[in-house]
Amino acid sequence: MWRNALGILVVFVALAGCRARAALTPQQEEGKRVYDVGCAHCHEENDLHLEKVPPSLHGLFNKAKLPDGEPATDAEVEQVLMKGKGAMPPFAYQMSREQMQAVIAYLHAGIRK
Ligand code: HEC
Repeated sequence: MWRNALGILVVFVALAGCRARAALTPQQEEGKRVYDVGCAHCHEENDLHLEKVPPSLHGLFNKAKLPDGEPATDAEVEQVLMKGKGAMPPFAYQMSREQMQAVIAYLHAGIRK
């Protein structure tokens, strides 16, 4: 009896979680790691106290344009990562193309805590 109740509870919690947001794919999981380590400290916390506050990347691809006005496409974001922008450093020498694509896939899925 208890075991059944527990089973039902587990299924319910799992379903509720799915409904809130689809689970991340392995690529998006990889992108989350890249984001948490390489992007969040600037884009969430501005820990370097940059004068131009790094824009929030939450819902980046829900809008037609990037904060600076270019079209919000994977290719544009990849260019920003390759070349940097303003106070944002280029990541071309620190990050593989796979990691860039992973972080872009993660931004499409929506930033998770
Ligand atoms: C050292 C701090 C810093 C780090 C680390 C950083 N950024 Fe940025 N980012 C910035 C700043 C500052 C801007 C605003 C640049 C500007 O418009 O002058 C920016 C802008 C952007 C933009 C918007 C570009 C546009 O054209 O509007 C994107 C997308 C972006 N960053 C993605 C990322 C991703 C993904 C990472 C992690 C791989 C990352 N950034 C890491 C500081 C940072």
